[in-house]
Amino acid sequence: MSVTWALPFDKKIKPKIGENNVIDEKTYSEIHEKTVKNYKEFWEEVASQLEWFRHWDKVLDESSPPFYKWFVGGEINASYLTLDRHYNSWRRNKVAIIWEGEPVDEKGNPKEVKQLTYSDLYREVNRVSYMLKEKLGLRKGDTITIYLPMIPELPIFMLAAARLGIVFTVVFSGFSSDALATRMNDAEAKVLITADGGWRRGKVIDLKGIADKALEKTPSIKKVIVVRRIGNGVRMNEGRDIYYDEIMSDIPHNAYVEPERLKSEDPLYILYTSGTTGKPKGIVHDIGGYMTLLHGTMKWVFDVRDEDVYWCTADIGWVTGHSYIVFGPLMEGVTGIIYEGAVDYPQPDRWASIIERYKVSILYTSPTAIRSFMKYGEEWVKKHDMTSVRLMHSVGEPINPEAFEWFYNQVGRNEIPFGSTWWMTETGGIMISNLPGYLMIPMKPGSNGMPIPGLEADVLDDNGNPAKLEERGYLVLKNPWPGMPLTIYKDPERYVKVYWSKFPGIFYAGDYAVKDRDGYFWILGRADEVIKVSGHRLGTYELESALIEHPSVAEAAVVGVSDPIKGEVPVAFVILKQGYNADDNLVKEIINTVREKVGPIATIDKLYFVSKLPKTRSGKIMRRVVRAVTMNSEVGDITTLEDEASVDEIRKAIQEFK
Ligand code: WT7
Repeated sequence: MSVTWALPFDKKIKPKIGENNVIDEKTYSEIHEKTVKNYKEFWEEVASQLEWFRHWDKVLDESSPPFYKWFVGGEINASYLTLDRHYNSWRRNKVAIIWEGEPVDEKGNPKEVKQLTYSDLYREVNRVSYMLKEKLGLRKGDTITIYLPMIPELPIFMLAAARLGIVFTVVFSGFSSDALATRMNDAEAKVLITADGGWRRGKVIDLKGIADKALEKTPSIKKVIVVRRIGNGVRMNEGRDIYYDEIMSDIPHNAYVEPERLKSEDPLYILYTSGTTGKPKGIVHDIGGYMTLLHGTMKWVFDVRDEDVYWCTADIGWVTGHSYIVFGPLMEGVTGIIYEGAVDYPQPDRWASIIERYKVSILYTSPTAIRSFMKYGEEWVKKHDMTSVRLMHSVGEPINPEAFEWFYNQVGRNEIPFGSTWWMTETGGIMISNLPGYLMIPMKPGSNGMPIPGLEADVLDDNGNPAKLEERGYLVLKNPWPGMPLTIYKDPERYVKVYWSKFPGIFYAGDYAVKDRDGYFWILGRADEVIKVSGHRLGTYELESALIEHPSVAEAAVVGVSDPIKGEVPVAFVILKQGYNADDNLVKEIINTVREKVGPIATIDKLYFVSKLPKTRSGKIMRRVVRAVTMNSEVGDITTLEDEASVDEIRKAIQEFK
């Protein structure tokens, strides 16, 4: 858990922009309560604002909880909603995506900028669908993996798959070959879409090389499509690999593929995410419920309008990108930005120059990014005109009030709506947030605001009773919502166990939270062994498994500790096998192993050598104790420890660390 700051329960700020929409929190609670009481009718009304091929027979099938199905009998297609509707309207020639590559010219301007209109996107997606169907023989229900950098082909392949009911799983391009292989195997993907590389901080990420390694152990993959991003002539495996431009060369320019009439509860995608124990879980999202939630939240949270330029700085490889770069914004017909690389490279103000260059009006970013901008200093912001921004939010981890205030002042000019939207891969879309496009309550720096309409959330104590106000408890969601998972792919029991069993019948999010006297929620961070590094979700299990793959490592424990910029970073305690020397070289080697097995986001911040680890008598590592010692906080109850000397070992290792 990473919150180390005081929570300013009493500080309220009213935005000056849209101030007429601001209502007091009691009024919001009353209205909210009504939407929750009739949540099915409420969501039905939202769903009816989408275009369905066939109307649903039933709003919610509750016959087999927690496997709820939304809008059963309804037929829908996410590619149709994001493309055909706009193509058949005045938006046909409106810009859908502004794409900016990383490399810059001598003046510091981006060398490559592409603008794709809705019509361009519609054509490309149709052509790719045609290729997937006619050339690769893929059909509804098949699975493909997409491992691409932030280039337009990434959303294009997602939408082309969605058009046919092909289930896609996107793997973040910062993951390494083992992580990629595990995901392809679990999903039993038939085809992999990758690229010859992608730019990040001046370096080319060798995606094809990483993929080749993964492909040695993924028998289900029969074809690999390689997008030429770099043009560096990567090794191609004859018969298996083909370049994207080559396979597309004879697809007619006006190819049209009819969007499949899919069931509302058909799967749209699988997205892998880390949990407390075990391998990453494949969260499966539906179509009808998911798109309904995105439609509602695009309006309430982002207040999107046709004249907006919308920028979500996340990577499409995470759920934030799936929902709020690809499906949500495109469904609303907005102009969005996709950029390759990093927000602070080649200069710390790349992000501010993007805002100025394209006159961004809605900004969605992360606390980690904001804290790094703060560290670079305000002179980098001052060089640019920020006045186009009229609304912003952060996401991914708790935001400290100091970072909130700094950004509110620097970019928000102390006058625009700003919030911290809480949600997770599993929820599909935003759950707790300030709602400037619906009913806005005064903002509290560091708070998430209140639940969206149609959703009841609460904070419970260990016994499942509502926690005392302003005291820490567990965040739960109390009624089904559209966008909720269908299941964990191939593991429905795990789905029940992880989310619906701690407090039977309600959804356990795995976060600590506080509700204050005014009814505002403050999400404090994970209550389990998930670590949020720069907002990226990593499981201790994955890191520990990677550590013990190094021949010298006998046992390992990983915990997350607070970091002023990244929120949290992983630190590792390692027991070496006999005959190995704990020197700097070995440290480097072990840390590298984890980077190679999981990916560069999994960089161990500090590695300590110990001879014992705190364990229960049944042999379970007590990470809670390890973390407490590491962070120099109260160790709490250690009566279940097998050997108390292990705690001193950890302490000693930290003191002696150089
Ligand atoms: C976890 C989910 C959903 C978008 C990105 C993350 C943390 C997310 C906030 C916020 C405090 C937050 C929680 C949650 N989290 N947003 N605004 N304030 N914490 O998705 O990778 O599935 O991670 O991120 O701990 O459980 P994810």
